[in-house]
Amino acid sequence: MADNRSFLHNKTLTRRRFLQISGLSATALGLSACTAATLPAAQENSRMAAAASPGAAAAVPAQLEFRLTARQTELPILPGAATQVLSYTGELIQGNPDAVTALPGSYLGPVVRVQRGDQMRVHVRNELSAPTTVHWHGLIVPPGAEDGHPAFPVAPGDELEIAFEVQNRPGAYWFHPHPHGLTAEQAYYGLAGLVIVSDAEEAALNLPAGAQDIPLVIQDRRFDGNNQLQYIAGGMAGMMDQMMGVLGDRILVNGQPEMTLPVATQPYRLRLLNGSNARIYKLAWEDGTPMTVIGADGGLLAAPLTLPYVMLAPGERVEVWADFAQQTVGSTVKLVSLAFEGVEAGMMGMMMGETGLANGAAFEVMTFAVNEAATSTLVLPARLLPVETLAASAAVNATAPRPFVFAMDDAMNWTINGRTFVMDEVAEDEKVRFGDTEIWELANLMAPPAAASGGMGGMAGMDHGQMQEGNGAMEGMAMGGGMAMQGGMRDFMAHPVHLHGIQFQVLGREVDDAQRVGWESVREGLVDQGWKDTVLLMPGERVRVIMRFEHYRGVYLIHCHNLEHEDSGMMRNFAIV
Ligand code: C2O
Ligand code: CU
Ligand code: CU
Repeated sequence: MADNRSFLHNKTLTRRRFLQISGLSATALGLSACTAATLPAAQENSRMAAAASPGAAAAVPAQLEFRLTARQTELPILPGAATQVLSYTGELIQGNPDAVTALPGSYLGPVVRVQRGDQMRVHVRNELSAPTTVHWHGLIVPPGAEDGHPAFPVAPGDELEIAFEVQNRPGAYWFHPHPHGLTAEQAYYGLAGLVIVSDAEEAALNLPAGAQDIPLVIQDRRFDGNNQLQYIAGGMAGMMDQMMGVLGDRILVNGQPEMTLPVATQPYRLRLLNGSNARIYKLAWEDGTPMTVIGADGGLLAAPLTLPYVMLAPGERVEVWADFAQQTVGSTVKLVSLAFEGVEAGMMGMMMGETGLANGAAFEVMTFAVNEAATSTLVLPARLLPVETLAASAAVNATAPRPFVFAMDDAMNWTINGRTFVMDEVAEDEKVRFGDTEIWELANLMAPPAAASGGMGGMAGMDHGQMQEGNGAMEGMAMGGGMAMQGGMRDFMAHPVHLHGIQFQVLGREVDDAQRVGWESVREGLVDQGWKDTVLLMPGERVRVIMRFEHYRGVYLIHCHNLEHEDSGMMRNFAIV
């Protein structure tokens, strides 16, 4: 096995950047949910005191307690040499033995099955050579260490105990690393698992269960001639990987290439997660059968939805009712990704499209091999689970949605409202009040708000030098960027926008006619129903979302879930105060 350090750090992490990252600590940064001056409530402080002290956390009985270890290992993926990967393993300490199961033969997993209301305790163990955190994507968890915020890294060799109550609706959530500047790389090498939440109300719906309830994690990866994963390449190609996000030319489902799943002639519940760093899928049945969607990021919808195809951006989940009852034994059914446009709308995207499998190209995702006759009495329910509708009129800013503009700035940084991520910074316009319902307008525009090029309101204390520094991989590009900008080479591409600590609802979308690219080729597959934590913004799109900040006070993150964008700074803290 190759040297641990060079394997993990590859070419992307300079020693200086590594030292910066490993030197971080929540206390040094002065950022802990507790110190965020903005947290007056006594009960909040005692909650955090409890979370900070393992002794106090242990006082709450857990229905599920397990150790989650991130480590390096190797396993066969392609014929021939084994592939070095990073992988989580789950080790049950207390609870139902079926609650933590491995995905056999895969670097992915474990799959954690919990009931809504369960107390969960996780011992996060880091056996990597770099710091890491575990983020519970989509789950409502306390801010800070429980949320896997990068200001709370777990050092190599360390173990961190976290505890939280499962509050989410029945659905599929997931977990992955979130260390500053290393998220994309650690996820790419294999770190990701699933949390499936159920409850009694869901059980009463009689949806396909057991072997007919199948999680499917879709990812793309690039392998070298020796079957090893290739992350960011050197030279010009590497610069484009960093800027556009890393794409692979092999599609893996649950870590398997050319995935074929044996099924019987009965209905299945497929829980699809896009676990890719940057690739967006336009999922469809190859034979043109419409897709029956029953769930989104935040769990089951109010009623099934029939769409010609389903868009799935990095971080998003959809649940699909797939009924193979009409198929003949011996036939196959393919799930494909159809061609679409606009994901890479700028110059770099066009250059990128010349090599490998472009974002928006058509390909096969996986095959269902119908190999067994079955009779099933399951029927698709006309109503699923109630979804409370958040009315726009309930928002404190109903007439003035809070804007978040996702765009590339003049120095070729991917920004949010003209800013990049600063670990301990929350601007005034990034603070919301606990208990409020707000509308946010997430916009994917050609350029950041004009004010951003100078010092903008609320940016006091932002040090531009510091802003660039955490960003080793982009340094070379900034130089080329100046030249490129003179040639009008500002880039423009789709951004899947994700919020921590909350589930929101999509109120509506508007597309700017002058800036739209490719929208028509994806619009019918956007699942805007139900609860969401990640939403795709196509170039030129403004998406209005509504949410209620009712769970915890503290600092959470908003970021692009194109993981290379996230790592390069298209991420900001926001505070619920
Ligand atoms: Cu799935 Cu902050 O990410
Ligand atoms: Cu998340
Ligand atoms: Cu992005």
